[in-house]
Amino acid sequence: MDINIEELAKIALEMRNMSYTPYTKFNVGAALLSRDGQIYTGCNIENAALTPSNCAERTAFFKAVSEGVKEFTAIAVAGGPRDAKELGFCTPCGVCRQVMSEFCRDDFKIIMVKSETEYRIVTLSECLPDRFGPKDLLG
Ligand code: THU
Repeated sequence: MDINIEELAKIALEMRNMSYTPYTKFNVGAALLSRDGQIYTGCNIENAALTPSNCAERTAFFKAVSEGVKEFTAIAVAGGPRDAKELGFCTPCGVCRQVMSEFCRDDFKIIMVKSETEYRIVTLSECLPDRFGPKDLLG
C-alpha cells in the first residue's frame, strides 16, 4: 500500500481546526494511515484538570483501535501555536511514541508536517530506539 504523503499532510493540517486547546492554544492535528488504507484523524483535546488531556496522535490511534484496526503504516502530525503564520516540525511526545510502539513496526513512518509541501520523515525505531513493547511481555 503506497503512502500518499500529500493527502496525509493536508488532513493533519486541517485537523488542527478541530483541536480543543483553551489552555495551551497549541493546535495539533494527526492523520493515521492503517495497513488496509484507511485514514483515522485526530486532534489534541485538553482538559481543565490538565492531565486528562489527550494528544492528536493518541486520539487518532484510539479511534482506530476502538474500531478494530490495529495495523498501521504512517502518521502525519502538524502542530504549532493556534495563530502561527508558519509551523515548525512538531515531534510526537514520549507517551504517543509509546502508544505507537504498541501497534507499529520499526519502519512505521512519522511524518512531521510544516506545510502541505514541507515534511520531515522519521521511522518509529529512530524516534524510540530500544523500545519496550509487546514482544517484551508476549515474546
Ligand atoms: N501535543 C500533541 O497533541 N501532540 C504532540 O505531538 C505534541 C503535543 C499537544 C498536547 C497539548 O495539548 C499541546 O499539544 C501542548 O503540549
